[in-house]
Amino acid sequence: MTGPDAATVELPPAAPRASDTQEVLVLDFGGQYSQLIARRVREQGVFSELLPHDVPLDEIRGRAPAGLILSGGPSSVYSPGAPPLRPELLELGVPVLGICYGMQAMAYVLGGRVEGAPKGEFGRSRLTVHEPGRLLQGLPHEQSCLMSHRDTVFAPPPGFRALASSDESPVAAFEDTARGLYGIQFHPEVDLTPHGSEILARFLSEGCGCDMSWTPESVIDEAVERIRRQVGDGRVICGLSGGVDSSVAALLTHRAVGDQLTCVFVDHGMMRRNEGDQVIAAFRDAFGVPLVAVDARERFLARLAGVTEPEGKRKAIGSEFIRVFEEEAARIGNPRYLVQGTLYSDVIESGGGTGAATIKSHHNVGGLPTDLSFELVEPLRTLFKDEVREVGAALGMSERLVWRQPFPGPGLAIRVVGGEVTEERLAILRDADFILQEEVRAAGLYRELWQSFCVLPAELRTVGVQGDERSYGYVIAIRAVTSQDAMTAEWARLPHDLVARVSSRLINEISAVNRVVLDVTSKPPGTIEWE
Ligand code: XMP
Repeated sequence: MTGPDAATVELPPAAPRASDTQEVLVLDFGGQYSQLIARRVREQGVFSELLPHDVPLDEIRGRAPAGLILSGGPSSVYSPGAPPLRPELLELGVPVLGICYGMQAMAYVLGGRVEGAPKGEFGRSRLTVHEPGRLLQGLPHEQSCLMSHRDTVFAPPPGFRALASSDESPVAAFEDTARGLYGIQFHPEVDLTPHGSEILARFLSEGCGCDMSWTPESVIDEAVERIRRQVGDGRVICGLSGGVDSSVAALLTHRAVGDQLTCVFVDHGMMRRNEGDQVIAAFRDAFGVPLVAVDARERFLARLAGVTEPEGKRKAIGSEFIRVFEEEAARIGNPRYLVQGTLYSDVIESGGGTGAATIKSHHNVGGLPTDLSFELVEPLRTLFKDEVREVGAALGMSERLVWRQPFPGPGLAIRVVGGEVTEERLAILRDADFILQEEVRAAGLYRELWQSFCVLPAELRTVGVQGDERSYGYVIAIRAVTSQDAMTAEWARLPHDLVARVSSRLINEISAVNRVVLDVTSKPPGTIEWE
């Protein structure tokens, strides 16, 4: 497998995990799908985390995992510089599953024969099970799987039984049940291996004896306990934007330390219609969370006057946001802790981080600077977005909040494109956005779409004819995308009748608009937002 060099990636600190929660650690040897392995294990009901392949042995011993999984990776086990598999890892008495490079490394270290095959094996392959053993029990004799390797295991190490083969892999799966060691050459974590989840499940249940009872909700008690330990009787502040991540992080913290938490909601005037009221109603009224709502709309608009360039807008909003946030922090006695909704994917994508005492800008509204000296509370650092949604639902958050589509920190300001942000333009965009959201929800598509929104070219007018008269009005662009993580996105194939309904409502209900276009650009080459 090809992928980044995992050795340079720092990963999150120990997970919020009660001592009686079973976990399986995935050691990352640089595989493309390493994160996905942890993901699939969690889907089977076992907590799992990705760690660098060279994580200290004492840390592994200290965590007493129920099992270890060695990921794939781009190297050849016998090449100089290949990430080594420490033999001690195989002697901890903890069951180990090697996947692709992980299997080859296991074979190499234990005296099997690993060599470059005459032909590589990349893509879908046919796997033949000769002897199911413990790992492949109950699986079809023949099945398809995803292979991606050039080296292969030609002979298993002493004590191992070969279980399966494929055209280019004489030993495509092996096991030594006495020592609890298992290996598969193919990738069980991807959809192209239809029985992959069953194989992982067999490793977890039969190989590791896991009870498979973990759910994202189990995180709640552990996270609450951990926040209490971290914060003690200190004061905590949280910048609430209405997004699902900061909301769930805030609710967990509130459950942990109650009124020691103050949430600050800065209404910068770039929100969608009614959004500010909804945030206040959800937190202050429904959950009793202490919430300071700052109406800073005029301030932000004044700061944006004359700013037309995209980065200029972001910077203006970002720096104004910091000022307002600092003022509020001072007003409530400069709390020591700051709650952030940082997700697992943020931690991994940004090359890790150790939860140190300064703030990374990219998660925050507009970007808080690194010299604000808060200590971070990040209860979601080990969760994926959809797991966060499950936690939110379990905490009693409304469906609307739980399933809210992502919304950028600078808000509608970066959707009034190519010109100055004015109250008049924001009002048009707010109305347009409201109509689009209403129709997308009515069509039952809101959850399927990663984002759906309107864009207003600020300086563009086009000619139309309305009621026998010439009109000269604004253009609204409809932007809707599907995506897993916003790194890439596909323009959404909205049903034509939905597009027609939205178009006609936008023009009929917003007098300043006389033309509607549909954005059919994926990412790449476009970005999701226009600015
Ligand atoms: P792009 O436009 O880069 O956006 O494809 C990727 C995702 O990030 C969101 N986005 C932002 N979120 N502050 C945020 O909190 C920002 O400045 C910002 N800019 C873009 C965007 O909506 C999409 O989900």
